[in-house]
Amino acid sequence: MTAPADADPRRVLVLNGPNLGRLGIREPEIYGHETIDDLTAACEGWGARLGLSVHVRQTDDEARLVGWLHEAVDTRSAVVLNPAAFTHYSYAVRDACAMVTGAGLVLVEVHLSNPAAREVFRHTSVVGAVATGTIAGFGLDGYHLALRAVAAR
Ligand code: DQA
Repeated sequence: MTAPADADPRRVLVLNGPNLGRLGIREPEIYGHETIDDLTAACEGWGARLGLSVHVRQTDDEARLVGWLHEAVDTRSAVVLNPAAFTHYSYAVRDACAMVTGAGLVLVEVHLSNPAAREVFRHTSVVGAVATGTIAGFGLDGYHLALRAVAAR
């Protein structure tokens, strides 16, 4: 599919993977007390101030996440992605991310926590090598930093 002639250059998909719908009650000492609704409102506010059209989504489903990454390619949208546990083992998500950056679009990998400072299985990101860049360890602020990086491009 070719990019639509009316593709919005300011469109950003903020995509969140499995278990991030449970933010606020899921290990708050690691992930904080903000909920996915708080994250959504914060990203929409930051996006508006940066002149971006931000669409925040969350899924526990790998196929759905892959489909959204295809959508980013088809609509020429930048991506801020917290792949959550898929980070560490999903070659399907990794290959879809490679299509995004391969199409010349920005993809920022974000993590609330710093996986490098946690269990060994979290030290591997199969996404990192095909992302434009990665931000980890700054909680919700990481999404703000990622949106600023997108806006700067
Ligand atoms: C996470 C880190 C991952 O290791 C974990 O599986 C998550 C969240 C983060 O935002 O810190 O679900 O991506």
